[in-house]
Amino acid sequence: MIKPHGADQLNPRFVYDTEQHHALIREGEELPSLLLNSAAAANAVMLGAGYFTPLDGYMNLADALSVAEKLHTVDGLFWPVPIVNLTDEAGIEPGSRIALRDPNVEGNPVLAIMDVEAVESVSEEQVDFMAEKVFRTLDPEHPGVATFKGLGRTLLSGPIQVLNFSYFQSDFPDTFRTAVEIRNEIAERGWDKVVAFQTRNPMHRAHEELCRMAMDDLGTDGILIHMLLGKLKPGDIPAEVRDASIRKMVEVYFPKNTVMITGYGFDMLYAGPREAVLHAVFRQNCGCSHLIVGRDHAGVGDYYGGFDAQTIFDEEVPEGALELEIYRADHTAYSKKLDRVVMMRDAPDHAKEDFVLLSGTKVREMLGNGIAPPPEFSRPEVAKILMDYYQSL
Ligand code: ADX
Repeated sequence: MIKPHGADQLNPRFVYDTEQHHALIREGEELPSLLLNSAAAANAVMLGAGYFTPLDGYMNLADALSVAEKLHTVDGLFWPVPIVNLTDEAGIEPGSRIALRDPNVEGNPVLAIMDVEAVESVSEEQVDFMAEKVFRTLDPEHPGVATFKGLGRTLLSGPIQVLNFSYFQSDFPDTFRTAVEIRNEIAERGWDKVVAFQTRNPMHRAHEELCRMAMDDLGTDGILIHMLLGKLKPGDIPAEVRDASIRKMVEVYFPKNTVMITGYGFDMLYAGPREAVLHAVFRQNCGCSHLIVGRDHAGVGDYYGGFDAQTIFDEEVPEGALELEIYRADHTAYSKKLDRVVMMRDAPDHAKEDFVLLSGTKVREMLGNGIAPPPEFSRPEVAKILMDYYQSL
């Protein structure tokens, strides 16, 4: 199987040893504590689950700046996005051990224990520098920029030991999986070539066929549908609704034992190209050989060109930095002429009108009014679940 990123073995920061786990829970109640923001909590969950192998914890300022600027840590590890714990809390000392409390679970239980190696002030210029590099904009309307700029100006770095997987394991027991579990399941299934499909949306016909095309073109043993379970911008569809509609689609339309439906606990960054590279890193850690990158991958609004998330792999990912390869998809839609879903590059004689194209706004409006989008756009079983959701609002 493909090796984890930058390591021979996964490095899950979750403490699996029961005795040590109990001892850390007891210790956590005694230690000085810090209430995390959701971004830092999501980083802890990803570190705990092995997705962020080979990292041990939160980056220091030199690494965060270096990663933002040139996608490498100071020591030369390829990494696309700063993994940071930014706060405005004062009084945390370098050299101390602290309990990191979970902002997303009632009562703020201890999520992880951190050995604080450094406490560094981050200037406004440094925050802007990182945001501009990662998001390619400083527009405060960009949801990722707005979140990042609001995280705080004190950076705490150092290794962590993770005690649980926040609300992801309790709220999505059938879907949340660690990278360790996914790797093990891929091995158990005897799969070798596996393509991952990243998603934060329900899956319509275009997405379904895109998965099928990738599987056929690459000749894979199976596909990992891997959905984001963390926070999204307002208006996006909640994870449980996406999960239900994806499960239904797979049940009805995919051959048995070719699909793993899973999710990961991370908040959406909306960082387009940089997030696509992060997606590639952590799918390699899951044991996937390929990742589908289509149109406007991890994008928002008009901040990124439709295929910037593909070209970054040519322009900013050095040869050999990743073992996983991306599967590049063109804009995919139903062709009325050919009566099937195609990639537009494969239908050069088509005009725009030859495709069934509906905007997100239009689809939401239809679903909200109890009108199913045409079957060329949405499977009726999927449309039903989405209509029920929109009508319950
Ligand atoms: S994402 O933010 O997680 O990327 P989404 O769930 O909408 O959003 O997309 C999942 C994947 O499908 C991404 O790789 C995206 O580029 C791709 N994709 C979505 N819609 C299309 C489409 N119509 N044509 C080609 N690729 C698409």
